[in-house]
Amino acid sequence: MLNRRDFVSALGSGAAFLGAGGRDHLRELLDELGRFTGTPEEIARDERYWFAVQQAFTVDRSLINLNNGGVSPAPAIVQDAMKRHLDFSNQAPVYTMWRVLEPQRETVRGALARMFGCDAEEVAMTRGASESLQICQSGFDLRRGDEVITTTQDYPRMITTWQQRERREGIVLKQIQIPVPAEDPREVVRRFEAAITPRTRLIHMCHMINLTGQILPVRDVVRMARRHGIPVIVDGAHAFAHFPFTHADLECDYYSSSLHKWLYAPHGTGLLYVRRELIQALWPLQAAAESMDANIRKFEEIGTHPAANYLAVAEAAAFTNGIGLANKAARLIHLRDRWANALRRLDRVRLHTSLRPGLSCGLALVQIEGIDPGKLYEHLWARHRIITTPIKTPEMEGVRVTPNVYTTLDEIDVFTRAMERVAREGLPAA
Ligand SMILES: Cc1ncc(COP(=O)(O)O)c(C=O)c1O
Repeated sequence: MLNRRDFVSALGSGAAFLGAGGRDHLRELLDELGRFTGTPEEIARDERYWFAVQQAFTVDRSLINLNNGGVSPAPAIVQDAMKRHLDFSNQAPVYTMWRVLEPQRETVRGALARMFGCDAEEVAMTRGASESLQICQSGFDLRRGDEVITTTQDYPRMITTWQQRERREGIVLKQIQIPVPAEDPREVVRRFEAAITPRTRLIHMCHMINLTGQILPVRDVVRMARRHGIPVIVDGAHAFAHFPFTHADLECDYYSSSLHKWLYAPHGTGLLYVRRELIQALWPLQAAAESMDANIRKFEEIGTHPAANYLAVAEAAAFTNGIGLANKAARLIHLRDRWANALRRLDRVRLHTSLRPGLSCGLALVQIEGIDPGKLYEHLWARHRIITTPIKTPEMEGVRVTPNVYTTLDEIDVFTRAMERVAREGLPAA
């Protein structure tokens, strides 16, 4: 793990696009920040600290990107590392990429394992949560009539994957509803348990729901399911590197995440955790030799693939470790509370995300009653160059707001004022 001083000097080199004078100034500032100490909540409010973090990114400030949940920009040090590895790969890929760079992937596996709190032999690197989850979803032998429980708020592609198994093999997908927001963890567990029958073979659940940012009680569901002998596949696409936790907080057997969301890793990178003794029984998505049956690397047998993307995950991990996950989460909560507390006072505004500690972090869903989310999204973009995510399901609607560590308070305030105006006056006539 990098200490704060290493981190700020890494930020300094990442800010090389500044002119020499600006660079010196930034370096002085970074040195000062390197001496900064405080609780996560204090650091979250220190704009000097976050100024340095903001400069680590190369984002376009002519727009306000409040959809970092979809996919995040990577900091300059991550982009640079990826380009460096890519250039080297292209010198003679059969040698430089396969023989020199590919083995270095093991270091990255170790870094991810330390972040997740597991053994490196339990971590596979994939191309994203979709791939990691589909390895789990397709890797279990299921028979006609076997049941899988998930929720109506799980990710559409993952639902589609189960539905394909329904059409192909006659398994049965049961989608339960959970409250929006779900403020009582016991009720969530109760609803999962109520759906279990003698034919239930698997539970598939989100750690953080992408629609609302709701954090679900994974460990409680896992413990309950274990009593019934049912494994739980956890979709952590939005949770890993977003807020602090390790495997010990979840106790799950299968965990999947994208790394291009909250870890800020290169696009097209993901993580799959499988408990060591269960690796053997889970089929890989692409075939692997029998000799690899108990080897986590069987899930990485995907043919020729770039080394650069995976190696630059190491810089992304160092970046997040350098900020500190607790500081990062506190900052994301600080940004969320700044807009959410201003807006929720207004009559027509409904927040579909609980702001209670532990139930959400940087991602939240807000509705202005009577305003179509698609039209609101279009208005925010056309008038203010603000990007949000419109959401409309039978259970909730609104725009999803996901700032990032590079988001400034001013950008949050522009969004807040734009929303206040719509809540008071409605959308302007086209
Ligand atoms: C909850 C959830 N699961 C899975 C995915 C799939 O992630 P990816 O597209 O990065 O593979 C997403 C993407 O947004 C998601 O929000």
